[in-house]
Amino acid sequence: KSMLVKDISEMKSIIRELKKEGRSIGFVPTMGYLHEGHISLIRASKKENDITVVSIFVNPLQFGKNEDLDRYPRDLERDMEICRREGVDYLFYPSYEDMYPEGFSTYVVVEGITEKLCGAFRPGHFKGVTTVVTKLFNIVKPDRAYFGKKDYQQFKVIQKMVRDLNMDVQVIGCPIVREKDGLAMSSRNKYLSENERKAALSISRSLFEAKRLFDQGVDDVNRLKEEIKRIVLAHPEVREIQYVEIVDPETLESKEKAEKGDIIAIAVFVGDTRLIDNIQL
Ligand code: PAJ
Repeated sequence: KSMLVKDISEMKSIIRELKKEGRSIGFVPTMGYLHEGHISLIRASKKENDITVVSIFVNPLQFGKNEDLDRYPRDLERDMEICRREGVDYLFYPSYEDMYPEGFSTYVVVEGITEKLCGAFRPGHFKGVTTVVTKLFNIVKPDRAYFGKKDYQQFKVIQKMVRDLNMDVQVIGCPIVREKDGLAMSSRNKYLSENERKAALSISRSLFEAKRLFDQGVDDVNRLKEEIKRIVLAHPEVREIQYVEIVDPETLESKEKAEKGDIIAIAVFVGDTRLIDNIQL
């Protein structure tokens, strides 16, 4: 079980047959190095669909020039074993050359919400994400696609793209999966040294603390942001907080007064590793 498919046209013909048989298709796009966060998406898909397809493709289009494309962690053998264990039906693993052949020049761009938060610091990132996800949707033709709220902005961007372009797929957002101590799971956690790992823990702690303050009646955005900065910047391993914002959950516009349902989103460099996290008030 869990068939490895590398060829785009083979994946398409498998999907064509499954559709003919009337099977529903759940899809979990990933860049591999699977962890419990990815696995939670796989389990949600297994529960709601006849067939589950996972893709692994480290998409160069969504990495900036000075980002970690070259050192992004990869372990196909381990990922295949996880997919087999979880009962994934197809693992789609296309090559770079097949996804972006010589002369490729078509892109999907979502305006507005891609310019905030991570988009302001990673030019072209969401263009790369929406383009590859559109390609993957066109190949896999899923009924439902699963995205983690760990990448909350990505989830909202994909949701908006699907709505704006009338794509026939239901976009489902799944809760953030955390380590026991609270650190949001990420393939990039592998980069962290022991001390950096400890420092990184302050990110989730600061968000939990801000939520606690909010629940006690503190709705002043600056006060909440200052508290988060104080907690995170107490660690010398933290190189910088790239941003911390309290935003509307739909538009991602910054707020002045925090309200229930708002998202606190943060991006932090711990050493050279860029980590993101968020919490809903
Ligand atoms: P990747 O970082 O591998 O993440 C794949 C999916 O897993 C995303 O939807 C992400 O939000 C989700 N995920 C990651 N960590 C999670 C966690 N701790 N809890 C819950 N979900 C988590 O995101 C990408 O890949 C790429 O941008 C992709 C969508 C595949 C396009 O290239």
